[in-house]
Amino acid sequence: MIASRSTAAVDSLQTILAPLPKTKIKTQVLVNGHIDPLGGLDRLPDLLVFRLDSNWEVELEALSARPPSQRPPMIIVSAESDPQVMRSSMQAGARDFFVEPFEPEEVLRSVEHLNRELLENPSQQDARITVVMNAKGGSGASLIASNVAHALCQEYEQRVALVDLDLQFGSLSYYLDLHLKHGIKEALDNVDDLDAIALDGYLVKHASGLRVMGVEEGRIILNDEVSCERLRHLVALMARAHHHVIIDVPRQIDLITSTVLEMADQVIIVTQQSITHLRDTARLMDVLRDDLEIPDENLQVVVNRYQKNSLITRTEVENALKQRSLVCIPNDFKNVTDSLNDGIPLLDIAKRAPITKAVMDLCEVVQGTQQIEDGSVLGRLFAKLKGA
Ligand SMILES: Nc1ncnc2c1ncn2[C@@H]1O[C@H](COP(=O)(O)OP(=O)(O)O)[C@@H](O)[C@H]1O
Ligand SMILES: [Mg+2]
Repeated sequence: MIASRSTAAVDSLQTILAPLPKTKIKTQVLVNGHIDPLGGLDRLPDLLVFRLDSNWEVELEALSARPPSQRPPMIIVSAESDPQVMRSSMQAGARDFFVEPFEPEEVLRSVEHLNRELLENPSQQDARITVVMNAKGGSGASLIASNVAHALCQEYEQRVALVDLDLQFGSLSYYLDLHLKHGIKEALDNVDDLDAIALDGYLVKHASGLRVMGVEEGRIILNDEVSCERLRHLVALMARAHHHVIIDVPRQIDLITSTVLEMADQVIIVTQQSITHLRDTARLMDVLRDDLEIPDENLQVVVNRYQKNSLITRTEVENALKQRSLVCIPNDFKNVTDSLNDGIPLLDIAKRAPITKAVMDLCEVVQGTQQIEDGSVLGRLFAKLKGA
């Protein structure tokens, strides 16, 4: 979307961006004292090119007042050369900045670049994508995926989408006592027409605010019914509207799971303390590293139903898997059974239990360290302005 107070500026930007392939360009001319370029829209654009003039201060304030999830990536074009405009634009989240007169070609290239980044590289976006897979059936991947997603949402106030990619025997809706009406199949069928706002209609909301997507009740989806291209697009779209996308996948390497594994910032492998679990975990990790080329640092092993006095100790698991940073989730038959039977997450049923504390520790790992590095052109310019 192109927005400005000036009709002439909107028209000229529209001409500049006309060569973009397969792109629908909407325009918004701010009239009658309207200051929010995204105000009154029922769908957010994927990308905003906003042209500012003397009214820049209030317009940027209106944008900054929106929660980050309600602000698409943005490029600012300014008629004013005041350095303060650039500073404020950056604070409002602008990804690139141009002062008039500018080279039309450069604006076009910047939009193209951002567009490509959005489509192809969700890891560059806000959401961290975490895939949870068990190394052996029943290890606890679904329990962990649902409780980590719930805790991130409830305790860390993150916008979280949880996706159940077990298309035949998904269990997340039971674990959270939710009824999935529009399922993932419908979302995939319509993905080309969806934006972040429309997508929300396909996600079921848990009382905590957590958003869940899976196969609708009473349905089974066969793998060849899912296009990987569409799945990729759907996950990328989710990544744009959330801080975290957590994906629970069945234990198999196929086109569907490898599509999301390749997009993941992090893969959590859930295992337990037994010889067979360890053997399967080592094999799975080899496949992920060697065949899917997932870097070792993106793999996180979680030992579920952990027992200190087990025959296989934590150190033995570490040595067998050559992993130094295991997260252990204790065995807790009572709380887990109560939680699953009633569809109530662990945090709500047993906030102080060791198992819940361990889930919170895992949340810290899933969140990773904050990425403060800013390699954008604007970031570098801003650093210069600050005299860094
Ligand atoms: N930490 C735990 N303590 C006790 N029981 C657990 C624990 N984690 C999982 N379980 C049990 O294991 C079963 C399988 O868990 P689930 O998360 O569905 O496994 P997966 O998704 O790996 O197949 C659950 O029904 C639950 O009864
Ligand atoms: Mg499962």
